[in-house]
Amino acid sequence: MLDIVVLAAGQGTRMKSSLPKVLHPIGGKPMLGHVLDSARQLGDAKIHLVVGHGSERVQESFAAADVDFVSQTEQLGTGHAVQQALPVLRQNSTVLILYGDVPLTPSSLLKQLVDCVSEDSMGLLTVNLKDPTGYGRIIRNDQHDVVAIVEQKDATEEQLVIREGNTGMMAVASEDLKRWLPALSAENAQGEYYLTDIIAMAQAEGKRIVTEKVENEYLVQGVNNRHQQAQLERYYQLSQAEQLMQAGVTLLDPERFDCRGSLSVGRDVVIDVNCVFEGDVILGDGVVVGANCVIGNCSIGTGTQIKPFTSIDGAQMAEDCDIGPYARVRPGTVLAKGAKLGNFVETKKANIGEGSKVNHLTYIGDSDIGSKVNVGAGTITCNYDGVNKSKTTIGDGAFIGSNSSLVAPVTIGAGATVGAGSTVTSEVPDDHLGVARGKQRNIKNWKRPVKQ
Ligand code: UD1
Ligand code: CA
Repeated sequence: MLDIVVLAAGQGTRMKSSLPKVLHPIGGKPMLGHVLDSARQLGDAKIHLVVGHGSERVQESFAAADVDFVSQTEQLGTGHAVQQALPVLRQNSTVLILYGDVPLTPSSLLKQLVDCVSEDSMGLLTVNLKDPTGYGRIIRNDQHDVVAIVEQKDATEEQLVIREGNTGMMAVASEDLKRWLPALSAENAQGEYYLTDIIAMAQAEGKRIVTEKVENEYLVQGVNNRHQQAQLERYYQLSQAEQLMQAGVTLLDPERFDCRGSLSVGRDVVIDVNCVFEGDVILGDGVVVGANCVIGNCSIGTGTQIKPFTSIDGAQMAEDCDIGPYARVRPGTVLAKGAKLGNFVETKKANIGEGSKVNHLTYIGDSDIGSKVNVGAGTITCNYDGVNKSKTTIGDGAFIGSNSSLVAPVTIGAGATVGAGSTVTSEVPDDHLGVARGKQRNIKNWKRPVKQ
């Protein structure tokens, strides 16, 4: 039986933010969300979230059936924080202690830590640090057994040189915690109830403190300020980039790749520099994404090319489409095979049929466009009268001349042609030519004005 206590009551003063620290994102997801995801991978556990500063917002964001909230109104130290959860810990469970601002610890590591707990032992996650400043130091005896943790501010000169630091994460039998926590004292340099003092208590009772040591600092690093947040963001992005390259994706520069969601890819996908992926994105085989694209919540079919500076959100594209450069593809856009959207084209709630082309400077909204349609440069669907949105329908094989305004609701029939510069306000039947513009007049012997 596993109880997971996640500490998330601290203010995060150094973030200088009105957002509670644990809600700040890494890879587009709140740090606390990462922690809970890892925790949930351990299987059937109860999660107790200790909240204090900004507790309302934290509770709103993370209300779930397997989470209960424990409030710590005054932050009197990590030991005090865990103590608030004592009444809700189940009998004879294993208690895993995690931190809402330490987002990138994989569940495999947490599993190892939980497995350290037995009748006569507890588990402690430690890390060898290049610079241990600020961390609690792990004190070992001649047999190399852990006997205590000493906080930076309480440490002697000899203790300060110790490089093995306390990650803070530990796993303990609930009955042991219930004995130890009430016995903590705040007589130390910071006047706080240190969770770390239970290590000396465990040692005094003859319990074994089994340590798991992490080599990669990033996996246990906490975030106290924007600098550390940025460091973890880069680490996280680079590890996602590595995974994609292992899956066969070409990244022109893995250091200029960002995914703030989930990206699934087919074979031989190529992604140029400075692209950002958000939400759930699926790229089919052979998709090529040009530089500087922002792509969210969409699926892109085999062989489709996305050219530079394109923005896509909430769209579906079939195979062999050709998009951009500088296209803006908005929610509800559905492209059939081989459709083309060129530069400075915006679409919204638009079905665009097989092989149809919308090449330049156009807005297509609330529209159904058939196959093999050509939409000329500067065409606008006038879908909004200031109150209601209306629909434009264009049949297969229609040709819309440049600079046309299609005032919706309106239908352009299959095979119909719209003369350039038309303002179309009523139906153009199948195979007809619709022209709706001032007739050209030529004035003979016209003289330009001369300057007086
Ligand atoms: C703690 C450890 C230290 C370890 C370090 C790793 C103690 C006494 N020290 O120190 O050994 O090396 O983490 O980063 O445990 N929190 C609460 N309520 C409180 C106090 C803290 O919820 O009353 C939460 C904070 O929001 C934070 C976490 O606990 O997420 C750690 O607290 P912090 O004060 O940052 O501990 P450190 O001094 O860094
Ligand atoms: Ca800290």
